[in-house]
Amino acid sequence: MSEFENIYKGYLTQFNRCLASFCDNLRCRPAVLNDSLVYSLKLGGKRIRPVLMLATADIIGTGTDKVMQFALALELIHTYSLIHDDLPDMDNDDFRRGKPSNHKVFGAGNAILAGDGLLNTAYSILFDECFKGSEYVSAAKFICDCAGVRGMIAGQSADLLHERDGEGDESELEFIYENKTAKLITAATVVPSILNGGKYYPELKALGKKLGYLFQLTDDILDVEGNFEKLGKSLGKDAAEGKLTGVKVYGLDNCKLRVDVIGDDCIKIIDGIHGDATFLYEFVNFIKTRLG
Ligand code: IPE
Ligand code: IPE
Ligand code: MG
Ligand code: MG
Ligand code: MG
Repeated sequence: MSEFENIYKGYLTQFNRCLASFCDNLRCRPAVLNDSLVYSLKLGGKRIRPVLMLATADIIGTGTDKVMQFALALELIHTYSLIHDDLPDMDNDDFRRGKPSNHKVFGAGNAILAGDGLLNTAYSILFDECFKGSEYVSAAKFICDCAGVRGMIAGQSADLLHERDGEGDESELEFIYENKTAKLITAATVVPSILNGGKYYPELKALGKKLGYLFQLTDDILDVEGNFEKLGKSLGKDAAEGKLTGVKVYGLDNCKLRVDVIGDDCIKIIDGIHGDATFLYEFVNFIKTRLG
């Protein structure tokens, strides 16, 4: 295992401990509600958002303890977005994280409620943090904005709007990438800054946006040529649903070239962060190399 993989695993273990304790203490009823929430959370996934948040907090000296509940809230919001994204009236995906999607197990009604429940619980977690001081309020507000109607939801709405309408162009694609994907990733990089007097705020905000773009670009490529075992979700769905993707706008080969260009942009931003930012450089590489 490489040094990077070791460190990633360390953050993952720390985060999974927090998540397991959250799941154990959830105890909501009826049982189907509890089960449907816990089902999607426990399926795993890469946890890139919480890992990125914990790592950034370490790098800029915020400390992982201070951001842990924000990482938890962010992963809950991300998981809710996936449950709803997979619904028949959205992307209609039967698999997620290598297992049947939430609605395939619990039905669409329960999956909608599971998503609502995760979002609502994330906000409760964030409200609890707000009692600790004004910087916590600012960090909580930042996450809410990233998830909301000028953030992830706006991106998802544009993604649906341009399904099969043949009208989206490069600027619409950028709007979709920035909002549906990059906003939650920006929350991961910026919250540690807000909780540390705004340290490296412009750099970390710019980095979240670029990393998010890079991540969705690789996701679009993998939808064409990834493999199910590794991805845990169905392939070829974007073309089947007529989505406006990077592949549609630029073509597959140009997308791969763009991965290098955007990866370099990320590196340049990280160069502006002093101290040991090795993990962030490696993180960019980790996203790039998931193309195989
Ligand atoms: C999937 O996100 C949705 C996109 C933004 C492309 P991830 O690829 O991070 O999903 P998990 O959490 O690892 O399952
Ligand atoms: C989803 O993008 C981004 C979300 C906000 C959930 P995709 O629809 O491309 O994600 P996958 O491919 O289903 O994971
Ligand atoms: Mg989608
Ligand atoms: Mg989808
Ligand atoms: Mg996708």
